[in-house]
Amino acid sequence: MNAPPANPPDEGQAALLEQLGSRSIVFVGLMGAGKTAIGRKVAAMLSLPFIDSDQEIETVSRMSVPELFERYGEPEFRALEQRVILRLLEHGPQVLSTGGGAFMNAQTREAIAVHGVSVWLKADLDLLMERVSKKQNRPLLKNPDPRGVLERLMGERYPVYATADITVPTRDALRSSRRCCDCDQRWGAFVNKTAPVKVEVGLGDRAYDILIGPGLLSDAGTEIARRLPGTRAAIITDENVAAAHLE
Ligand code: S3P
Repeated sequence: MNAPPANPPDEGQAALLEQLGSRSIVFVGLMGAGKTAIGRKVAAMLSLPFIDSDQEIETVSRMSVPELFERYGEPEFRALEQRVILRLLEHGPQVLSTGGGAFMNAQTREAIAVHGVSVWLKADLDLLMERVSKKQNRPLLKNPDPRGVLERLMGERYPVYATADITVPTRDALRSSRRCCDCDQRWGAFVNKTAPVKVEVGLGDRAYDILIGPGLLSDAGTEIARRLPGTRAAIITDENVAAAHLE
C-alpha cells in the first residue's frame, strides 16, 4: 500500500470524497488497460491510498503471479484473488486496481458493488497489445498468439466489464496528467445518486423514462447494459448529433 501524498484535495475532489464515503474506487478491465498506472494517478489526485490487488496477492502468498499459476494453477489463483479483494474492500476509501480476471467472479463483483464504485478502463485491441508487449509476466499471454488470446478475452469479458458503474476509455484517461479526463465529473454524477433527474413519460404500453443529469451520456452503454442485460442495442441518430456524441 502506498502512503497518500501530502497535497490536500481541492473543493471538487473534497466533495467527491465526501460522496464516496467509505467506498473504494475500483479499476477493472483487461490486461494492459492501464489499471495500475491510472489507479495510482487517481489515488494521488484524491490523496487516497492506492492498492494493486495482484501486488497484494504476491505479498500474502510470497510468490509472483506467474509462480502461483505455475505451482497451483489458475483456479487456486482465482480463489486467492477473490479472498484478497474481498478483504481489501473492507478498508475503503482507497483506490484499488484489480487483475483482469477479478471482475469475472460474481462474488467479487457483488462485493465491489457494495463497497466500491467500479470503473472499467476500456481499451481497444491495438492499445492493449502495445501495452502488454512491454511486460512478459502475464501467464495467460504466454502463448504463441497473445493477440488472439486478448481478442477472445475481450469477447468473453467486455459484456461483464460493461456492468461496471462507470466506463472510461483508456485513451481519454491517459490523456491528461492532472485530471483523469472528466472522470471526477462522472464519479460526481454516480456517487451522488440523487443527481440525475428522472422524467417519467406515461404512454401506457409505450411508457419510458428520461434521465437528465451530468455525465450520463458517457455512461449510456453501462446504463443500457444494466437495464437490458444480454440484449443488443441500436443507436438512432443523425449526422449532426452523431458527429458530436456517437462515439
Ligand atoms: C489476469 C490479469 C493479470 C493477473 C493474472 C491474470 C487475467 O493482471 O491478475 O495474470 O486473468 O486477465 P493485470 O490485468 O493487472 O495484468
